[in-house]
Amino acid sequence: MSFEKVARKLFRLVFPGKKPIDYSKMPNVTIGKNTEFAGSIDMSRAPNSRVIIGDDCMIGCAINLETDNAVLEIGNNVFIGGGSKIQVTSKITIESDILISTDCMIQDSDNHHVDFNIRKKDLQEWRRGYHDWTTHPSLPIKISHGAWVGARVIILKGTTIGEKAIVGAGSVVTKDVAPYTIAAGNPARMIKEIAEREVTT
Ligand SMILES: CC(C)(COP(=O)(O)OP(=O)(O)OC[C@H]1O[C@@H](n2cnc3c(N)ncnc32)[C@H](O)[C@@H]1OP(=O)(O)O)[C@@H](O)C(=O)NCCC(=O)NCCS
Repeated sequence: MSFEKVARKLFRLVFPGKKPIDYSKMPNVTIGKNTEFAGSIDMSRAPNSRVIIGDDCMIGCAINLETDNAVLEIGNNVFIGGGSKIQVTSKITIESDILISTDCMIQDSDNHHVDFNIRKKDLQEWRRGYHDWTTHPSLPIKISHGAWVGARVIILKGTTIGEKAIVGAGSVVTKDVAPYTIAAGNPARMIKEIAEREVTT
């Protein structure tokens, strides 16, 4: 072994640095074959929550699970860009053959109640490591097969993005996006239907 290799090994022994976390070894996390996972999963507040990711995906987003009932299911051949964040309190389903760009936010709960008297305690409870997720609605989100979600999109609780639909960059999805349509804007509204020939494969 060359002097340089020995020196490098010694250096690594003395300064091991931060070891990357192998999320596939976490209990309740399944990561399919040939999937590159470069994101993060935080289930420290919800140890019984679950994450299931299929095959052939590239996932770069941060995933936060907030209740023990929370489930995130991602199918096969799904891309989710870096800077995106998925927060699950009930269920988020992302089917197969889907592109979700960078800096998107997908959350199935509003996190706080519209009534000030209920939400005024949230900050101090959170500082003590607690949040009452039952005081405000949590509604599942579904992103259907073949959809494309542009950069910086926000997808809010209780919405479904239809099959092969597209959501334009920077949009805020507050209501369902119909299959084979393009929706854009804040709030996202249909701007076009997708011609049948573009979605036949
Ligand atoms: C949604 C998108 C695919 C539509 O492209 P397109 O079919 O060429 O649409 P057009 O440019 O013909 O726009 C049609 C109308 O929608 C509006 N529109 C398009 N994208 C919009 C958006 N993201 N937000 C708000 N309005 C939008 C246009 O201004 C235009 O309005 P008008 O009819 O009043 O002039 C494209 O605009 C987009 O947002 N792409 C996402 C790109 C991205 O985020 N890539 C990240 C890498 S994965």
